[in-house]
Amino acid sequence: MSSKKIETALISAGRDRRYTQGAVNSVIQRASSLVFDNVADKKRATAGRADRELFYGRRGTLTHFALQDAMAELEGGAGCYLFPCGAAAVANAILAFVSNGDHILVSGAVYEPTQDLCTKVLTKLGVETSWFDHCIGEQIADLIRPNTRVVFLESPASITMEVQDVPAIVAAVRRKAPEAVIMLDNTWAAGVLFRPLEMGVDISIQAGTKYLIGHSDAMIGTAVANARCWPQLRENAYLMGQMVDADTAYMASRGLRTLAVRLRQHDESGLAVANWLAGHEQVARVNHPALAQCKGHTFWQRDFSGSSGLFSFILKQRLTDQQLAHFLDNFTHFRMAYSWGGYESLILANQPEEIAAIRPAGGVDFSGTLVRIHIGLEHVDDLIADLAAGLERISAISP
Ligand SMILES: Cc1ncc(COP(=O)(O)O)c(C=O)c1O
Repeated sequence: MSSKKIETALISAGRDRRYTQGAVNSVIQRASSLVFDNVADKKRATAGRADRELFYGRRGTLTHFALQDAMAELEGGAGCYLFPCGAAAVANAILAFVSNGDHILVSGAVYEPTQDLCTKVLTKLGVETSWFDHCIGEQIADLIRPNTRVVFLESPASITMEVQDVPAIVAAVRRKAPEAVIMLDNTWAAGVLFRPLEMGVDISIQAGTKYLIGHSDAMIGTAVANARCWPQLRENAYLMGQMVDADTAYMASRGLRTLAVRLRQHDESGLAVANWLAGHEQVARVNHPALAQCKGHTFWQRDFSGSSGLFSFILKQRLTDQQLAHFLDNFTHFRMAYSWGGYESLILANQPEEIAAIRPAGGVDFSGTLVRIHIGLEHVDDLIADLAAGLERISAISP
């Protein structure tokens, strides 16, 4: 990205006149087939098919090119591939770089379906996964084998929110395995609050389903790669038939224009709620990267420019099934749903053993119930009142 501030870049990125054709927003060009006017045109399109030339629907249309250019600029990459959802972006980024007999290193605290991809799909292809402690630093070098091809990070961690020391991990991997491809799921930071490619990560992946779309009504995945990895990622994903429809690509482009202001509000309200929770007698710990009590907080301070709206907290008590249901079933503003990043507030809870089941490298150090919340764009006073009432409901039922 140039010296432009992120707010400005989010407004201008990808709005090339070729893509907007005189409008403010990019056009929605829906196409499977793209028509060539003559033989020379067809030749030119064929030669440039991998690079923003209208050739075939699966290679993208002007709508896709606009979003791809925008994301590559915003995350500082050579190119961006678009996928039908975040899980497809994760799967295809990994699949583009592994072959039978390879080994990959994956944090033991990544998004559960990413873990399942490794255990249920990569194993079938003869690719072995080792899980590492999410909070590892330079010691990751000891885990690298001669056949290690991919190192997969996600920061902050899924659900428990520990922030990784990405520069230390990258330096150690580069020393031991300069060719290994380092990938990071950058969904929490919406691709803009944290800039992994600037720290030597090769591919930054995002479930654009969350903050790019921002309204919980469409799904998309993005993977921005550096020059070394872009051609292989692009060609592999194309051969895997990966594509997103033009309407969804358009919605993600439109989401970019308001991303900075939405994120600012998620950040401000999220922090207010986190600080309120940190002072609550029923709460043992708040896992919000901007709070000192969150593991890896100093890395967040050093590497991130802000926070989004997702975090978790641990209750002192392990709730009974009855308490849990009474707590979760009666919120006014917080709804129960998995996919976060929209304008609405969400809540879910996990018992410690449920988290332990998705931590193959260990690291569960709590015994109370964990509550994950997404702070939406409602007024923060209403959200705090809703949470206060919820915590009171717990006390009302004795175990
Ligand atoms: C960190 C992270 N990565 C990837 C995904 C998958 O995204 P999608 O739902 O678009 O497949 C999610 C979804 O919750 C996620 O939280």
